[in-house]
Amino acid sequence: MLKLLAVSSLATLFGAALITQTDAPAIIKSHVATLHAAKSFKAELMLRKLSGGSPDKETVSYSKDGMFKIESAKSLAVSDGKTVWILNKEANTYTEAPASLARTKESDVWAWAAFFNEEAFKGVKEYSVKGSRNLPGGPATEVSMKLANDKEVSLFIDSKTGVAKGAMNGDWIIIGSNISMSKDAVDAKDFAFAAPAGAKKEEPKPVSGASFADVQKILVANCQGCHNDGNPKGRFSVDSYAGIMRKVTAGDAANSALYRSISGPRPKMPAGGAAPLSKADQDSIAGWINAGAKNE
Ligand code: HEC
Repeated sequence: MLKLLAVSSLATLFGAALITQTDAPAIIKSHVATLHAAKSFKAELMLRKLSGGSPDKETVSYSKDGMFKIESAKSLAVSDGKTVWILNKEANTYTEAPASLARTKESDVWAWAAFFNEEAFKGVKEYSVKGSRNLPGGPATEVSMKLANDKEVSLFIDSKTGVAKGAMNGDWIIIGSNISMSKDAVDAKDFAFAAPAGAKKEEPKPVSGASFADVQKILVANCQGCHNDGNPKGRFSVDSYAGIMRKVTAGDAANSALYRSISGPRPKMPAGGAAPLSKADQDSIAGWINAGAKNE
């Protein structure tokens, strides 16, 4: 069992950054190089919200060519590189989707994204190498980064291995333990999915990868005339996330008034005789809603 970090100590920020630079510091370059050279990667993750609540645990195993297995008490996601299966253990239902369309919890393993992609940190605007932190399993150097979208994230680089042992990403702190990397690929059989007895297959909800900014751009261009904060017809305004969310059921486009209003054989919106949204725009909105309708 991991010793959990006290929230107060996690939230405490270190003093001034020691170095701020736009080029990746050596400590990040070697983290990236080590992960990129590895063929397989395993870790146990403890995920916890800074704002509180009980932690989640996951076991992750990755092998090159997009194979992975992410398991928690509630779910199991497995991919052989071509197909992704996601099993909901509580409901005993699973989905099966092509790897290119499935969305797993990338943010959980974001710290180790360089395992798949050498350019994982390409969009980073600024790095600050901060002080050393005492984390479960030993000290780590915190490196904070400003991403292209101006969000701040931190990596905790293990002082022994030179590879991240955790990250702080938005409200989440993720700490890995028993991290192992190998130059040998994992046997593909480890990434095969066998549905448990009685498990029911569900059709996956397609996701588009569209961000909130992409969706809001479409809505502002087509709907703002009648749906703004000053004149939110039908109580729907595209001026803010909250205004849009009034007509969205996160995770379920088919049950969201927003998506229902723009789709189908005779879309109700945009009203006033304008042409319906293109299929691509409809799909972007549906995919964003199905992926959780996040404000990011
Ligand atoms: C010419 C004005 C006009 C335009 C343009 C327009 N709407 Fe509407 N919209 C309305 C009016 C009026 C209502 C309230 C009456 C109704 O529900 O039909 C409404 C209601 C809605 C509702 C609430 C429906 C419900 O079931 O609660 C949604 C969602 C919506 N519009 C989405 C959109 C979207 C998305 C666009 C752009 C693609 C858009 N509208 C463009 C006039 C417009």
